[in-house]
Amino acid sequence: MLPPGALDLQILPDASAVARLVADRLLRELLQGRPELTADAPSGGLRQPLGLATGRTMEPVYAALLQLVQRLPAAERQRLRAGWLSFNLDEYVGLGPDDPRSFRAFMTAALGQPLGLEPGQLQLPGGLAPDPAVEARRYAEALARAGGIGLQLLGLGLNGHVGFNEPPCGPEAPCRALMLSASTRCQNAAAFGGDPQAVPAMAISLGLAEILAARQLLLVVTGAAKATILRRCLQEPPCAAVPGSWLQRHPQLTVVADAAAAAELALP
Ligand code: GLP
Repeated sequence: MLPPGALDLQILPDASAVARLVADRLLRELLQGRPELTADAPSGGLRQPLGLATGRTMEPVYAALLQLVQRLPAAERQRLRAGWLSFNLDEYVGLGPDDPRSFRAFMTAALGQPLGLEPGQLQLPGGLAPDPAVEARRYAEALARAGGIGLQLLGLGLNGHVGFNEPPCGPEAPCRALMLSASTRCQNAAAFGGDPQAVPAMAISLGLAEILAARQLLLVVTGAAKATILRRCLQEPPCAAVPGSWLQRHPQLTVVADAAAAAELALP
């Protein structure tokens, strides 16, 4: 368990307040990067890529980020765009960029197209790669070459998954191709006409190894349905049955939750 006071926990009234706060944090990261590294970065942008996530939790976050970016002076907006490099957590195996249910399509619609980013600035595993295991290794190597993740944005699955690291999962699990659990296929069925069987059976996901190696973690959790799993993640000893509980081991973990998701947390 986290030592008391080690966790930066921010509880806000609702999901829109959460989205605004998280968007502001992302914008600061995008504009500043690591101060000690920005001075000699040719683009003036980030040295370490931003780690991004998909899912319903992130929809209002990215909408709020777009609003903030649109309010920037043109020169700053241009700097942000030129310096952008992000790596997403995961992608479904079998879905390509033209499939609106792919995470690549989600990211293009949410950020790539509105911000005018090149596809290469938004990195995701290739869902159509002929060999998913080889693609997972390629993706991990590309991330390592780019310097690893700076700030990693994370949502939380109802079964405690982060990325698509399904339980049971230890803290050293690497980027890999994996089978999705029945509960995750149910959770994500809405995007597939409500049919869990239509949700791809496999995905490629960064592992807890790459996630825990990020410089900073930002876990975003909203809604009453996640109150129990958030408590288990943060206030029970880390264990493979709750993959998100390994985040407690990270020295720079910030959790932003709405009041409904935080309802079961024991607070000082
Ligand atoms: C998805 C993604 C995760 C996401 C989580 C929560 O399946 N692989 O990265 O954080 O499940 O999704 P949502 O925000 O829709 O509840």
